[in-house]
Amino acid sequence: MSTIKVAVLVGSLRKASINKRLARAVERLAPKDFAFEHIRIDNLPLYNQDFDADYPAEGKRLKQEIEAVDALLFVTPEYNRGVPGVLKNALDVASRPWGTNSFAGKPGAVIGASIGATGSALA
Ligand SMILES: Cc1cc2nc3c(=O)[nH]c(=O)nc-3n(C[C@H](O)[C@H](O)[C@H](O)COP(=O)(O)O)c2cc1C
Repeated sequence: MSTIKVAVLVGSLRKASINKRLARAVERLAPKDFAFEHIRIDNLPLYNQDFDADYPAEGKRLKQEIEAVDALLFVTPEYNRGVPGVLKNALDVASRPWGTNSFAGKPGAVIGASIGATGSALA
């Protein structure tokens, strides 16, 4: 069977992130025909619709990396009952310019860990 390439986007930047640990645990437990690629999102500019005329290099890089995979895995904490800004920004950057949504047609899964009772469900 051919390898299934999965892009991993983690919504926490901190070194000791429990969500980074969760992502690594999923990788370890996944069948051997899955290949995981961690996608960098900490160096993206904050999305601005003016980008659409001339997309920034890091935005193009993010879009290309997502377009090169078969599926997506989002691993995220919950910040104030929502998605952390860094991950939301990556979603916005990769989904534009209009008509070039890099996520289109790709299956995705969202998982997360949190110290709160909601366990990241609201993110
Ligand atoms: C700005 C901020 C907002 C948070 N809001 C929530 C929240 O709404 N719900 C929750 O369960 N935990 C919340 N937490 C706690 C996180 O779940 C906890 O810090 C978790 O460890 C973050 O994930 P990480 O270890 O992957 O960085 C918040 C933490 C921060 C820093």
